[in-house]
Amino acid sequence: RDDKPAVGGFTANYIAKRINEFVATNEHPNFVLGLPTGSSPLPVYHKLIELYVRGKVSFKHVITFNMDEYVGLPKSHPESYHSFMFDNFFSKVDIDPKNAHILDGEAENLVEECERYEELIESVGGIDLFLGGIGEDGHIAFNEPGSSLASRTRMKTLAYDTIVANARFFDNDISKVPRMALTVGIATVMDAREVIIVITGKHKAPALAKSIEEGVNHMWTVSAIQQHPWAMVVADEDATLEL
Ligand code: GLP
Repeated sequence: RDDKPAVGGFTANYIAKRINEFVATNEHPNFVLGLPTGSSPLPVYHKLIELYVRGKVSFKHVITFNMDEYVGLPKSHPESYHSFMFDNFFSKVDIDPKNAHILDGEAENLVEECERYEELIESVGGIDLFLGGIGEDGHIAFNEPGSSLASRTRMKTLAYDTIVANARFFDNDISKVPRMALTVGIATVMDAREVIIVITGKHKAPALAKSIEEGVNHMWTVSAIQQHPWAMVVADEDATLEL
Protein backbone atom coordinates (compact mmCIF):
# COMPACT_ATOMS: atom_id res chain seq x y z
CA ARG A 1 0.00 0.00 0.00
CA ASP A 2 1.26 3.45 -0.85
CA ASP A 3 0.66 5.71 2.12
CA LYS A 4 2.95 8.52 0.97
CA PRO A 5 -0.08 10.64 -0.04
CA ALA A 6 -1.47 10.12 3.48
CA VAL A 7 1.82 11.33 4.99
CA GLY A 8 1.68 14.35 2.69
CA GLY A 9 -2.00 14.98 3.42
CA PHE A 10 -1.65 14.82 7.19
CA THR A 11 1.45 17.02 7.22
CA ALA A 12 0.06 19.62 4.79
CA ASN A 13 -3.22 19.89 6.70
CA TYR A 14 -1.29 20.33 9.91
CA ILE A 15 0.94 23.06 8.44
CA ALA A 16 -2.06 24.86 6.92
CA LYS A 17 -3.80 24.76 10.31
CA ARG A 18 -0.75 26.25 12.01
CA ILE A 19 -0.51 29.04 9.39
CA ASN A 20 -4.22 29.81 9.72
CA GLU A 21 -4.17 29.84 13.52
CA PHE A 22 -1.19 32.10 13.36
CA VAL A 23 -2.72 34.56 10.93
CA ALA A 24 -5.93 34.61 12.99
CA THR A 25 -4.16 35.42 16.25
CA ASN A 26 -1.63 37.75 14.61
CA GLU A 27 1.12 37.06 17.16
CA HIS A 28 3.72 38.61 14.85
CA PRO A 29 3.40 39.72 11.24
CA ASN A 30 4.57 36.59 9.43
CA PHE A 31 4.59 32.84 9.88
CA VAL A 32 8.15 31.63 9.31
CA LEU A 33 8.43 28.22 7.73
CA GLY A 34 11.62 26.20 7.22
CA LEU A 35 11.42 23.94 4.16
CA PRO A 36 13.22 20.94 2.68
CA THR A 37 13.73 19.55 -0.81
CA GLY A 38 13.77 15.86 -1.75
CA SER A 39 11.16 13.36 -2.80
CA SER A 40 9.74 12.84 0.72
CA PRO A 41 8.24 16.34 1.06
CA LEU A 42 6.77 16.36 -2.48
CA PRO A 43 3.39 14.93 -1.37
CA VAL A 44 3.30 17.65 1.31
CA TYR A 45 3.82 20.33 -1.34
CA HIS A 46 1.18 18.75 -3.61
CA LYS A 47 -1.38 18.84 -0.83
CA LEU A 48 -0.45 22.38 0.27
CA ILE A 49 -0.94 23.55 -3.34
CA GLU A 50 -4.33 21.81 -3.42
CA LEU A 51 -5.34 23.49 -0.14
CA TYR A 52 -4.24 26.85 -1.55
CA VAL A 53 -6.22 26.32 -4.78
CA ARG A 54 -9.30 25.45 -2.69
CA GLY A 55 -8.88 28.66 -0.70
CA LYS A 56 -8.05 26.83 2.53
CA VAL A 57 -4.66 28.47 3.10
CA SER A 58 -2.70 31.45 1.84
CA PHE A 59 1.06 32.05 1.89
CA LYS A 60 0.80 35.86 1.76
CA HIS A 61 1.92 36.08 5.37
CA VAL A 62 4.46 33.29 5.17
CA ILE A 63 8.24 33.71 5.00
CA THR A 64 10.23 30.61 4.08
CA PHE A 65 13.82 29.52 4.58
CA ASN A 66 15.07 26.49 2.73
CA MET A 67 17.40 24.11 4.48
CA ASP A 68 20.17 23.81 1.96
CA GLU A 69 21.57 24.33 -1.53
CA TYR A 70 24.37 22.81 -3.57
CA VAL A 71 27.57 24.82 -3.92
CA GLY A 72 28.49 25.86 -7.44
CA LEU A 73 25.30 24.79 -9.17
CA PRO A 74 23.67 27.73 -11.00
CA LYS A 75 20.23 28.65 -9.66
CA SER A 76 18.84 27.97 -13.13
CA HIS A 77 20.17 24.37 -13.15
CA PRO A 78 17.14 22.02 -13.11
CA GLU A 79 18.53 20.18 -10.07
CA SER A 80 19.36 23.24 -7.99
CA TYR A 81 17.21 23.49 -4.89
CA HIS A 82 16.12 26.93 -6.18
CA SER A 83 14.64 25.26 -9.26
CA PHE A 84 13.12 22.47 -7.18
CA MET A 85 11.32 24.87 -4.87
CA PHE A 86 10.07 27.24 -7.57
CA ASP A 87 8.98 24.43 -9.90
CA ASN A 88 7.31 22.29 -7.24
CA PHE A 89 5.91 24.85 -4.85
CA PHE A 90 6.61 28.58 -4.88
CA SER A 91 5.36 29.19 -8.44
CA LYS A 92 2.06 27.47 -7.59
CA VAL A 93 1.04 29.39 -4.47
CA ASP A 94 0.67 33.05 -3.51
CA ILE A 95 3.96 33.45 -1.65
CA ASP A 96 5.80 36.70 -2.38
CA PRO A 97 9.04 35.47 -4.03
CA LYS A 98 10.92 38.06 -1.94
CA ASN A 99 9.81 36.10 1.15
CA ALA A 100 11.14 32.77 -0.16
CA HIS A 101 14.74 32.52 1.01
CA ILE A 102 17.22 29.96 -0.24
CA LEU A 103 20.96 29.88 0.41
CA ASP A 104 22.99 31.10 -2.56
CA GLY A 105 25.44 28.33 -3.45
CA GLU A 106 27.09 30.63 -5.95
CA ALA A 107 27.76 33.50 -3.56
CA GLU A 108 31.22 35.00 -3.91
CA ASN A 109 31.84 34.60 -0.20
CA LEU A 110 30.16 31.44 1.05
CA VAL A 111 31.07 32.02 4.70
CA GLU A 112 29.40 35.43 4.62
CA GLU A 113 26.40 33.96 2.83
CA CYS A 114 25.89 31.50 5.71
CA GLU A 115 26.25 34.26 8.31
CA ARG A 116 23.80 36.45 6.37
CA TYR A 117 21.28 33.59 6.35
CA GLU A 118 21.45 33.09 10.12
CA GLU A 119 21.07 36.85 10.66
CA LEU A 120 18.09 36.99 8.31
CA ILE A 121 16.36 34.17 10.20
CA GLU A 122 16.95 36.01 13.45
CA SER A 123 15.75 39.33 12.01
CA VAL A 124 12.30 37.89 11.24
CA GLY A 125 11.92 36.44 14.73
CA GLY A 126 13.20 32.89 14.16
CA ILE A 127 11.54 29.90 12.51
CA ASP A 128 8.06 28.93 13.68
CA LEU A 129 7.97 25.51 12.07
CA PHE A 130 10.79 23.60 10.39
CA LEU A 131 9.72 20.83 8.05
CA GLY A 132 12.46 18.34 7.17
CA GLY A 133 13.17 15.05 5.48
CA ILE A 134 16.08 12.73 6.23
CA GLY A 135 18.70 10.87 4.26
CA GLU A 136 19.25 7.12 4.57
CA ASP A 137 22.18 7.86 6.87
CA GLY A 138 19.95 9.90 9.18
CA HIS A 139 21.13 13.29 7.98
CA ILE A 140 18.83 16.27 8.15
CA ALA A 141 19.38 19.04 5.58
CA PHE A 142 23.02 18.30 4.64
CA ASN A 143 24.17 17.67 8.21
CA GLU A 144 26.07 14.53 7.33
CA PRO A 145 27.08 11.92 9.91
CA GLY A 146 29.61 13.42 12.29
CA SER A 147 28.20 16.97 12.09
CA SER A 148 28.24 18.85 15.35
CA LEU A 149 24.86 18.96 17.03
CA ALA A 150 25.71 22.60 17.83
CA SER A 151 26.28 23.47 14.16
CA ARG A 152 24.83 26.51 12.44
CA THR A 153 24.53 27.39 8.76
CA ARG A 154 27.79 26.52 6.99
CA MET A 155 29.41 24.72 4.10
CA LYS A 156 29.57 20.90 4.25
CA THR A 157 31.28 18.31 2.09
CA LEU A 158 28.70 15.73 1.08
CA ALA A 159 29.14 12.16 2.32
CA TYR A 160 29.89 9.62 -0.40
CA ASP A 161 26.58 7.85 0.37
CA THR A 162 24.69 11.11 -0.20
CA ILE A 163 26.46 11.70 -3.51
CA VAL A 164 25.50 8.16 -4.61
CA ALA A 165 21.89 8.62 -3.39
CA ASN A 166 21.53 11.94 -5.21
CA ALA A 167 23.12 10.72 -8.46
CA ARG A 168 19.60 9.73 -9.53
CA PHE A 169 18.92 13.41 -10.12
CA PHE A 170 22.10 13.82 -12.21
CA ASP A 171 21.69 11.18 -14.96
CA ASN A 172 22.89 8.51 -12.49
CA ASP A 173 26.38 9.95 -12.93
CA ILE A 174 28.08 10.55 -9.59
CA SER A 175 30.68 12.78 -11.25
CA LYS A 176 27.90 15.32 -11.96
CA VAL A 177 26.75 15.56 -8.32
CA PRO A 178 28.12 18.65 -6.55
CA ARG A 179 30.60 17.73 -3.79
CA MET A 180 29.63 20.50 -1.41
CA ALA A 181 26.55 22.24 -0.12
CA LEU A 182 25.48 25.09 2.12
CA THR A 183 23.20 23.86 4.87
CA VAL A 184 21.49 25.09 7.99
CA GLY A 185 23.01 23.49 11.08
CA ILE A 186 21.48 21.18 13.65
CA ALA A 187 21.27 24.10 16.09
CA THR A 188 19.47 26.15 13.41
CA VAL A 189 16.82 23.43 13.15
CA MET A 190 16.66 22.98 16.93
CA ASP A 191 16.02 26.71 17.39
CA ALA A 192 12.75 26.45 15.46
CA ARG A 193 9.71 26.55 17.73
CA GLU A 194 8.37 23.37 16.14
CA VAL A 195 9.92 20.64 13.98
CA ILE A 196 8.19 18.10 11.73
CA ILE A 197 10.11 15.34 9.97
CA VAL A 198 8.54 13.34 7.13
CA ILE A 199 10.00 9.88 6.49
CA THR A 200 8.78 7.44 3.88
CA GLY A 201 10.05 4.17 2.42
CA LYS A 202 11.71 0.94 3.58
CA HIS A 203 15.14 2.33 2.77
CA LYS A 204 14.68 4.90 5.56
CA ALA A 205 13.59 2.35 8.20
CA PRO A 206 17.07 1.83 9.71
CA ALA A 207 17.60 5.60 9.93
CA LEU A 208 14.28 6.13 11.70
CA ALA A 209 14.99 3.35 14.21
CA LYS A 210 18.53 4.58 14.94
CA SER A 211 17.38 8.17 15.23
CA ILE A 212 14.48 7.76 17.60
CA GLU A 213 15.13 4.51 19.49
CA GLU A 214 18.83 4.99 20.17
CA GLY A 215 20.54 7.87 21.94
CA VAL A 216 21.06 11.35 20.57
CA ASN A 217 24.05 10.89 18.34
CA HIS A 218 26.03 13.03 15.93
CA MET A 219 26.32 10.06 13.55
CA TRP A 220 22.52 10.11 13.00
CA THR A 221 22.09 13.83 13.12
CA VAL A 222 18.29 13.90 13.01
CA SER A 223 18.36 12.14 16.42
CA ALA A 224 18.87 15.64 17.88
CA ILE A 225 15.12 16.22 17.62
CA GLN A 226 14.67 13.84 20.57
CA GLN A 227 15.64 16.84 22.66
CA HIS A 228 13.33 19.28 20.92
CA PRO A 229 10.36 20.32 23.05
CA TRP A 230 7.93 20.21 20.12
CA ALA A 231 8.93 17.74 17.41
CA MET A 232 6.85 15.31 15.41
CA VAL A 233 7.81 12.51 13.00
CA VAL A 234 5.28 11.63 10.29
CA ALA A 235 6.17 8.25 8.79
CA ASP A 236 4.59 5.74 6.44
CA GLU A 237 4.30 2.04 7.40
CA ASP A 238 7.44 1.09 5.45
CA ALA A 239 9.62 3.56 7.34
CA THR A 240 8.46 2.10 10.66
CA LEU A 241 9.50 -1.48 9.81
CA GLU A 242 12.45 -1.50 12.21
CA LEU A 243 10.81 0.17 15.17
C1 GLP B 1 19.01 15.49 0.45
C2 GLP B 1 18.51 16.75 1.14
C3 GLP B 1 17.80 16.42 2.43
C4 GLP B 1 16.75 15.34 2.19
C5 GLP B 1 17.42 14.10 1.64
C6 GLP B 1 16.47 12.95 1.40
O1 GLP B 1 20.15 15.01 1.05
N1 GLP B 1 19.58 17.67 1.43
O2 GLP B 1 17.19 17.60 2.95
O3 GLP B 1 16.06 15.05 3.38
O4 GLP B 1 18.04 14.46 0.39
O5 GLP B 1 15.80 13.09 0.19
P1 GLP B 1 14.59 12.18 -0.26
O6 GLP B 1 13.41 12.69 0.46
O7 GLP B 1 14.50 12.39 -1.74
O8 GLP B 1 14.93 10.79 0.10
